[in-house]
Amino acid sequence: MITRLRDTFLGLTLSVLSESRIISFVVVELRLLGPGMRDLSVAASLIKGGGLVAFPTETVYGLGGLGFSADSVTKIFRVKDRSPDVPLILHVSSLRMFEECIDGVPEVAYELVRRFWPGPLTLVLPKSHKVPEVVTAGRVTVGVRWPSHEVTQKLIDLVGEPLAAPSANRFMSLPPLTAGDVVIELDDLIDAVVDGGEVPLGVESTVIDLSVRPFRVLRPGSLPVPKLEAFLSEEVIRAYGMPSRKYRLGVEVVYVRSCSLGMMTDVVDSVADVVGRLGSGGVLVLGSDETLRDYFDRGIEAVSLGSRRKPFEVGKGFIRVLRSLPSRVRKVVIEPFPCGGVWEALDYRFLKAARKVVEA
Ligand code: TXA
Ligand code: MG
Repeated sequence: MITRLRDTFLGLTLSVLSESRIISFVVVELRLLGPGMRDLSVAASLIKGGGLVAFPTETVYGLGGLGFSADSVTKIFRVKDRSPDVPLILHVSSLRMFEECIDGVPEVAYELVRRFWPGPLTLVLPKSHKVPEVVTAGRVTVGVRWPSHEVTQKLIDLVGEPLAAPSANRFMSLPPLTAGDVVIELDDLIDAVVDGGEVPLGVESTVIDLSVRPFRVLRPGSLPVPKLEAFLSEEVIRAYGMPSRKYRLGVEVVYVRSCSLGMMTDVVDSVADVVGRLGSGGVLVLGSDETLRDYFDRGIEAVSLGSRRKPFEVGKGFIRVLRSLPSRVRKVVIEPFPCGGVWEALDYRFLKAARKVVEA
């Protein structure tokens, strides 16, 4: 029998051979690291040694490995249980690193970089020969972004090459906002997590494909699409629509969707109508600071995701609430939120969660 003995302190893996019994037993432990330089150096050496480390970015926690190593990237797919046809993003911390990933950077990309990087914007462009095919799921293009989070930048600098990093959750589950979320999701499957506190935005980066004309936004994210349109002053196709993959959740989610309800009483009316039709108990409304009292006044159980003036708070509130639902809740109903700007990304998130969409 072979038992794997892992020295959790040095991050070494040893194999011990025994004829008939387990001769030692060691619990594999994920290392919790801080955001200081000493711990980041440890994180960087784990990554350089082919390991996987989760770390904060300004959007969500990422699960990072060496972007130019097919072995590290293959490991990321395995740990996340991710479908091999969904490409990963490379994270860089300098223009030089970006240029290394791309086969000839066009002028328009430099313009976007100067305006929006570092930040939550992923550019899809033809890949260079350095990028292994497994990163791009066999495509000729690669997605690259330069995160604005200081910890992410320092870590990439220390590693000295791009980090491939999807959100640090299992495939089709909610993105992680804290190191604790990562631990719950990936536990002993990865080498370490850098705890940098809760992420500031909580919404993934906006992904734009610059390899085709007109440009195509592949995923709405933290950087509002209208901002991109205004800056580029040319047509940008919204190539997303209904998400092709849904979150796997333990409850049934109904999303009441509307762009035309300006009055809070209309918002509450439309939700009350749906709740009435869902009938018996176990229904929880995901509302906002502005509507919560109205639900209570009508005897409807509700919780606030945050203020309708703060879309990023609502986006994070949504994840937090879904992660900690009491077991008696069977169905949740999302109220209509404002439209446009960064709300497009939240609409996309709600659609990804919804089993049923009611257009109000
Ligand atoms: O904010 C973010 O982007 C986070 C943090 C960790 O940086 N990362 C993230 O990665 O959300 P992930 O793997 O969960 O999502 C990457 C998205 C996927 O929807 C993928 O289809 C798209 O980017 N993508 C990446 N490269 C692409 C390519 N070459 N062509 C088309 N889509 C691409
Ligand atoms: Mg993801």
